[in-house]
Amino acid sequence: MVRKHGLVSAIMRRVHAPIYASRLRELVRRIVPHLHAGDRVLDVGCGFGALGRAIMDSDACPRDCIVVGLEPVKREGSLIQVETYDGRTMPYDDRTFDVIILADVLHHEEDPHRLLAESARVAKRLLIIKDHKLDGPWAQQRIALIDWAANAPYNVPCLYRYNTLQQWDEWHQRHHFVIERELRTMKLYPPIVNLLFGGRLQYMAVLRVARG
Ligand SMILES: C[S@@+](CC[C@H](N)C(=O)[O-])C[C@H]1O[C@@H](n2cnc3c(N)ncnc32)[C@H](O)[C@@H]1O
Repeated sequence: MVRKHGLVSAIMRRVHAPIYASRLRELVRRIVPHLHAGDRVLDVGCGFGALGRAIMDSDACPRDCIVVGLEPVKREGSLIQVETYDGRTMPYDDRTFDVIILADVLHHEEDPHRLLAESARVAKRLLIIKDHKLDGPWAQQRIALIDWAANAPYNVPCLYRYNTLQQWDEWHQRHHFVIERELRTMKLYPPIVNLLFGGRLQYMAVLRVARG
């Protein structure tokens, strides 16, 4: 039974690989223009650190830009330097990192507002959120399916809770974020996959953290 489960996970990972690669390319293309030379970037909930690695390896990445990761549980074979924490209080002083990235993390978090507040505390300039958006027919079901397929092979628990655009707006206001760039639709995946699971179901916001 365990071996069968391992085989199914391995097949799902293989099928998902080109979709994940396309997602990474698009995220790097969208994030890198917001980085400055010498930036220290924290990828919160970095998983294996593939996004951070791809950002640093990109020809377009500004010089001396460093991405490190933070995870409740460090994964074997991380591609960047990763620190672990309790998932609640980040082990950093206020404004330690120029940029914080939360890529498909908030919808996995029981208390997303605590995570947002903590991210804003540790960020000096920007908070970059990539997540989902409930928009269009069968949106909840379509997002839940891709969420499950992407995470089940890695045993990442899914809550199946996603925001509408209005909820995203409310969250940004609640945390006093100022929108620098917002993408309400994204071509994240290969064409047919994008038609089913990309487009309006994807959301990205580059937010300036307001200082009181
Ligand atoms: C879907 S994965 C995304 C991984 C990576 N960001 C990426 O884009 O490939 C969600 C990740 O969020 C992490 N996560 C969930 N709650 C978190 C928290 N409070 N702090 C940091 N990471 C968290 C999980 O451990 C998991 O690795």
